[in-house]
Amino acid sequence: MTQTGHRSMWSSRWAFMLATAGSAIGLGNIWKLPYMIGVNGGSAFVLVFLACIFLLGIPLMMCEIMLGRRAQRNPADGMLALAREARAPAAWKWVGIAGLFAGLLILGFYSIIAGWVLDYIVRAASGEFRGIDGPAAKQQFDQFLATPLQMLVWHTLFIVMTLGVVARGVNAGLEKANMILMPALFAILLVLVGYSMAVGDFSRSAQFMFTPDFSKLTPVAVVSALGHAFFSLSLGMGAVMVYGSYLQRHVSIARTTIYIAVADTGVGILIGLAIFALVFANDLEAGAGPGLMFQTLPIAFGSMPGGDIIGTLFFLLVTFAAWTSAISLVEPAIAWLTENTRLTRKQSAWLIGITDWLLGIAVLLSFNEWQHVHIVFGLGIFDTLDKLTSTIMLPLGGLAMALFAGYVMKTEHVREELGLGMGPYRIWRALIRYVAPLAILAVFLYLLGVIGN
Ligand code: PFF
Repeated sequence: MTQTGHRSMWSSRWAFMLATAGSAIGLGNIWKLPYMIGVNGGSAFVLVFLACIFLLGIPLMMCEIMLGRRAQRNPADGMLALAREARAPAAWKWVGIAGLFAGLLILGFYSIIAGWVLDYIVRAASGEFRGIDGPAAKQQFDQFLATPLQMLVWHTLFIVMTLGVVARGVNAGLEKANMILMPALFAILLVLVGYSMAVGDFSRSAQFMFTPDFSKLTPVAVVSALGHAFFSLSLGMGAVMVYGSYLQRHVSIARTTIYIAVADTGVGILIGLAIFALVFANDLEAGAGPGLMFQTLPIAFGSMPGGDIIGTLFFLLVTFAAWTSAISLVEPAIAWLTENTRLTRKQSAWLIGITDWLLGIAVLLSFNEWQHVHIVFGLGIFDTLDKLTSTIMLPLGGLAMALFAGYVMKTEHVREELGLGMGPYRIWRALIRYVAPLAILAVFLYLLGVIGN
């Protein structure tokens, strides 16, 4: 397939790998996964999550990179071009278009949480956690949530940081940021894990995460593990597809995907181990939910030697992770705008930045002034966006891409792009054609209350 106009390319395979790992490793790994593990009873949930990553996540990530690289366009035009090549209906472009919007919706709430993290860097660095107990930590967090103006400042800063990088383009922006932030993230991670091994209760943490107790496994836990596998690997909305569209032809998609998925899962597990080791060492609650990072951890940092520095480093790590993910959330829309309108990348970045800034304001108000505004099923604005994207839009996007690659595209095109031998190709194809669609459908049926309950 030929390329449209001049498009930037990653300067190396490393650049692509770091950028895609940067997209995958984010708040999902550090904030969400540990609390989901905590709430869903630990190890059994971890096992289901790992199974989802390997059986669905890896094949689907390969699929998305493959679609992007073959199309050499933004996800919306890319799906259209691939549909034309396969003589399939042009309506497939809607998969790409829905993805662009999913990215914008996700950033609307992602930026708020990232803003909290920025605020907590300052709190940790200024020693605010020292000697703090449970009620005080809760009060500190509640007070913060009740102050929309403070949240607005951090949200604004995060949007500027994100769009500031994207405005500079693929090489000078995305690639450069990831080349600096990702190694820094891994370095901080090692320090943190070392620290929590030294002062935390690592063995209890490992036991909590790895001794399977299937009695705790509920259908809801399985559904959320699948949804989270999508969210964690950034699948189903075109972020990986657009990154794949900047990837050189000679790079092996399978090998690269495996490295990225292992890095993503590895970081999630290591962070989980480190967090729970600190939580257990301080006799705190593992199942604290979304407040785990903002209410429980500060207590641990506040009572440990060197807690100020470690706390600051921790929230810095979370910021880097969130930043590199946020960049990938807007790139599909930015690529679409620059490839379809007369807007430059900078102007597109302004447009998307302002849109997401406004959306974020609605989200941050949902924690205070608009607390009683419910959108659907009694969910507030924040929860509606979170559920709508990670349990519906991303799996649906993933399902559509799997069906497209598995049934619509010509086999030779898929094989040519993936470059797999016959055996591995057959396994991939079976996962994409049968396993992934059936698993995703089962989740939807469950959500609709047809089965389960
Ligand atoms: N994978 C990111 C995380 O785990 O935090 C979130 C995300 C980024 C989802 C980009 C989707 C996406 F396109």
